[in-house]
Formats: sequence, structure tokens, C-alpha cells
Amino acid sequence: MSYQTIIVETRGKTGLVTFNRPQALNALNEALIAELNTALVDFETNPEIGCTVITGSEKAFAAGADVKEMAEKTYIEAYLARFLDGWTRIADTRKPVIAAVSGFCLGGGLELAMMCDLIVASETARFALPEITLGIMPGAGGTQRLPRFIGKAKAMDLILTGRMMDAAEAERAGLVSRVVAPDKLLAEALAAADKIASYSQPIVMMAKETVNRAQETSLAEGARFERRLFLSMFATTDQKEGMDAFIAKRKPVFRNR
Ligand code: HXC
Repeated sequence: MSYQTIIVETRGKTGLVTFNRPQALNALNEALIAELNTALVDFETNPEIGCTVITGSEKAFAAGADVKEMAEKTYIEAYLARFLDGWTRIADTRKPVIAAVSGFCLGGGLELAMMCDLIVASETARFALPEITLGIMPGAGGTQRLPRFIGKAKAMDLILTGRMMDAAEAERAGLVSRVVAPDKLLAEALAAADKIASYSQPIVMMAKETVNRAQETSLAEGARFERRLFLSMFATTDQKEGMDAFIAKRKPVFRNR
């Protein structure tokens, strides 16, 4: 498959997607979202791949949805064409996805990053949901996910003022997992992905699913869900292999079974 708006590579057991619309600061148009979804499905169905990293350029992870593409839309066109349906594919991905963010991460760019499982940021990263300045509000989950990451007070501040938050503030607020020097960003994200991809894929997927459950349910329900999946892990050969290897003081060889 040849891509026009993204670059797709593999690095060992990691899939790497790089947004490639430099002339528009990687603004996310419909073509890019469609190509991203194709790449994600390819990685998801490739048994050799255990994790995906999504990144942009040094200047911009993504400066939001493409305003020029959206500007003339009417309500009925947007409704009938199911505008935004394609945006949630990333949140349905079972294998982990890491966003490696440098520069502007705005609007729909931040909404996509929040659908990923980890956000690794460069010191130059700038985060905002500036939709309010355009006469709209976030529409790809931003009003729901941001408060879950950073709490209502700061989320309300960002969404109602449209102001930018730098990487240090984003780390303090709990939006990003790690902040690194700009020249270390991709290496750091790929190293984290490589580590994740070295473990048992089904166990990693179940761990991801269980953590995500914490965002959606009560503590008691979440703990019950965890218990069910935890017990099911004793039916896998990877659990036997992991524990045998520990006791024998050797490296485990996981077979995703
Ligand atoms: C379309 C965009 C764009 C965007 C930048 N560009 N952001 N095009 N959609 N979101 C284009 C500019 O028009 C310009 O094209 C080129 O990229 C370079 O941008 P400049 O503005 O010249 O760069 P700079 O002065 O460095 O300013 C950077 C910036 C600014 C602060 C990031 O570009 C900006 O404010 N962009 C819009 C950010 C935004 O509002 N995002 C939210 C979008 S709404 P030309 O052709 O002039 O060179 C959204 C809703 C999501 O995301 C809802 C669900 C989908």
C-alpha cells in the first residue's frame, strides 16, 4: 500500500506511523485519518507486530483537524457522511499505541494522542484544545478524555480559554507519561514500544483492556473485571513460560499463546 499523508515503517516488532503533511503542520484531513486507520489495522493483524508508535514532525505532532477541509461543511453533510466516525479507530486498537509528540499537539491532534496508551513528549511539545477560538468545541472525545487525564479544573481552563500548555505542565498534570529532550523523543518511544512488544501479546492486550476499564466503570466492577482476566491468564502457556523462566533464572520466550 502506498500512502500519501503518512509514512509507514516497521522497526523490529514495532509499527511506526509518521504523519507527513508538513505544509499544513500535519493537520488531520480525512485522507490522513483513513490512511492511519489502514496502517493501524495492518499492524493489528500482523502477528509480528506488538506495538505501534505514532509521531509527527519536530514542529508539529498535529495542529488539529484540517480547518480548511472543515470550514464549509454543513450540518447535514457532516451528519450524513458520518464525519468523525473514522477518528475513533485508534481507541479500538487492542495492541498498545504510543504517541511520540514534538511541537504542536492541538485540537484533534491532542484528541488522537489521548486515544493512545502512552504519550511520550519532547520538551518542545505544546498541547491545547483551541477549538473554542474557531467557534466550535472539541468533537473527537476531547471534552471527555481530557478531564479524565488532568481533572476538571485544568480541563475546563484549557477547553474554555484555548490556551497552550507546555510539556512540563502537561507532565505535572498527568497528560504525558514521559518528557525527554527533542533529539531523544523517537528513540525513547521506540524503546518503550520494543519493551512492550517483547512481552506476551495477549497478556499485554488484556492488561491494556483492563486499565482502560478503570476509565469507564466503578472500582468494584473494574476489580471484578481484573480478577476474571487475571485468572484466565493461568490458561495461557505464556504464564507458565514467564514463571518457569523466572525460577530457572533464564529469559522467557513468549509465544503469544
Ligand atoms: C489546516 C493548518 C492547520 C489546521 C496549521 N495549518 N494548522 N491548516 N488546519 N489545523 C496550516 C496554516 O494554514 C499554514 O498554511 C501552515 O499550516 C503553517 O501554519 P502557520 O499558521 O503559518 O504556522 P505558525 O505561525 O507557526 O502557527 C502555528 C499554529 C497555527 C499556532 C499551530 O497554525 C494554528 O493556530 N493552527 C490552527 C490550530 C487549531 O486551531 N487547531 C484546532 C483545529 S479544530 P499556509 O497555506 O498559510 O502556509 C480541531 C477540531 C477537532 O482540531 C474536532 C474533531 C475532529
